[in-house]
Amino acid sequence: MPDLNRIAYLMAAGCVLTAAVDAAPPPTHTDEAQVPAYTLPDPLKFADGSAVSSAKDWTERRRPQLLELFAEQMFGKAPPAPKSVKTRTLSEKDVFGGTAIRKEIEVTLVEQPTPVTMTILLYLPKTDKPVPVFLGLNFRGNHTVTTEPDVALNTNWMENKTPGVVDHRATEESRGSQASRWPVEMLLKRGYGLATAYYGDIDPDFHDGFQNGVHPAFAKSGQSQPAPDEWGSIAAWAWGMSRGLDALEQESRVNAKQVIAIGHSRLGKTALWVGATDPRFAIVISNDSGCGGAALSRRHFGETVARINYSFPHWFCENFKQFNENEAALPFDQHELIALIAPRPVYVASAAEDLWADPKGEYLSAIYADPVYRLLGTDGIGGAAPSTELPPVDHPISNGTIGYHIRTGKHDINDFDWEQYLNFADRHLRARKN
Ligand code: GCU
Repeated sequence: MPDLNRIAYLMAAGCVLTAAVDAAPPPTHTDEAQVPAYTLPDPLKFADGSAVSSAKDWTERRRPQLLELFAEQMFGKAPPAPKSVKTRTLSEKDVFGGTAIRKEIEVTLVEQPTPVTMTILLYLPKTDKPVPVFLGLNFRGNHTVTTEPDVALNTNWMENKTPGVVDHRATEESRGSQASRWPVEMLLKRGYGLATAYYGDIDPDFHDGFQNGVHPAFAKSGQSQPAPDEWGSIAAWAWGMSRGLDALEQESRVNAKQVIAIGHSRLGKTALWVGATDPRFAIVISNDSGCGGAALSRRHFGETVARINYSFPHWFCENFKQFNENEAALPFDQHELIALIAPRPVYVASAAEDLWADPKGEYLSAIYADPVYRLLGTDGIGGAAPSTELPPVDHPISNGTIGYHIRTGKHDINDFDWEQYLNFADRHLRARKN
């Protein structure tokens, strides 16, 4: 049987299908010498070429124009926020020797035609004041974030790749398997809470034509899948993160004005998109987000637009496939996704061995967003004009409103990354009054 992902790729590329389709994946390279010459769109120019010369121009006209383009051509438009979100506490107890509270909260994302719920695992340090919270989706279920035996085992579909997942369902063997990515006690000791939920609760990460997860609930009558400019899975995960923030707004022990969106890899792309679409997030952190996240598409380095649409045809909207091997036609590039978060602090991180995610492209996005941050009265990446040279590994640039580091090692999120995020959050949140 032909591979459905390959067929989707070929159709998007305008190919006529013959019976025996077996296309090779679009080629990629990790050789800096093969980066093509490219010109990036200027965030401080309107579509007609005229200058964006004031903060008002940006906020009232240019930003909405760009946000609309990213929604229409890349992530797809998501439904508006519901008036309220229904939550139910599933468990609540003291943990870590009574120094913290742990809750499991069920959030109803949609009720009809089939209810879809997401379970938030929330840890809060015990203090007398509402605390800032990191909110990030996880890859394998809340029970993998911690070794605690009584966090509910996720029962939804998940990829078989991880040890302890059998027939697409988690087993006890997977408990704690992602704990190195979530240093819960380190966060609590620093005075932060953590809220996390399994991304597959919102939309299972495989291409089934948008029949499961939250998509069907919003299909117009007679519509079997999203229109070309409507949401793919990343936009759905981002929408789910916003519902997570709605739920946190109901928690009196959370400072909902100090919620930090964080994500690794595909969930780093998600964090950037939710940061752009939901200005309630105070800080946004993108860890190794790569293609479709922080990395510039026009560099065509590591994973490319064609390759990501080939491998993951459900992540972005149909319109995005027009830019397969055609990045120059994109009406934006990823530095403008970061600029959409301005003037709120944003942190982009890379890993030295993670060439697939194009560390240099991630760094360049961060610095090319700098002029927008400065126009809005912040110090951008800090200091004078930033260098286009990738900074040395393990030397974070994090004194400005845009932070960046490239650390030693692989595609992952670890304690070194989190320490930088905590320091960055400390600096920005301490300066604020609420
Ligand atoms: C793949 C994919 C990336 C993605 C990553 C992840 O490598 O190509 O785009 O970021 O998975 O989410 O782990």
